[in-house]
Amino acid sequence: MYENLEELENSFKDCKKCKLCNARQNIVFGVGNPNADIMFIGEGPGGDEDKQGEPFIGKAGQLMNKAFDIVGIKREEVYIANIVKCRPPNNRDPEEDEIQACMDYLRNQVMIIKPKIIVLLGRIALQNILGREYKITASRGKWVEKKGIMYMPTWHPAALLRDETKKIEFLNDLKQVVERNSNG
Ligand code: URA
Ligand code: SF4
Repeated sequence: MYENLEELENSFKDCKKCKLCNARQNIVFGVGNPNADIMFIGEGPGGDEDKQGEPFIGKAGQLMNKAFDIVGIKREEVYIANIVKCRPPNNRDPEEDEIQACMDYLRNQVMIIKPKIIVLLGRIALQNILGREYKITASRGKWVEKKGIMYMPTWHPAALLRDETKKIEFLNDLKQVVERNSNG
């Protein structure tokens, strides 16, 4: 376990712990405030993220940024990371062996950042952080407390792209997050 994000990031610059290392261009470590109160966890890098090494900068990320603007979240004040740090080919779901190989990095990030609130973006984040028994349709919008951290499961931003209802629900979930955070 590492004590700060730079050391952690340096520790796996050439990571080959799973087969996602084969096609990646960049490891997408995570971005944001190392002391963030709010952390967002997605699934894995897409094409744009793989090219540029930063999470949520493609279409889904731009939609998330717009939602941040609407509810008053500043991207640089929160921290954003993914379950797997390398892009799954053709944007397929990350596989179990890949997730297991990569999750220690995320656990270490959470230990360093010590967020009060973690927003789980979509099923893959939800089920790997809170457990397989959680279903995204039933769980989204509802707080879950675990070991002193408040979790808010919500839609993955890619799911919002052509779905107005989900957009509204996503905004409502983010509003709950902002409200709880401002109440300490
Ligand atoms: N989708 C994700 O889950 N993460 C990203 O970083 C980009 C798209
Ligand atoms: Fe290593 Fe994670 Fe990339 Fe797999 S996905 S190669 S475990 S950094």
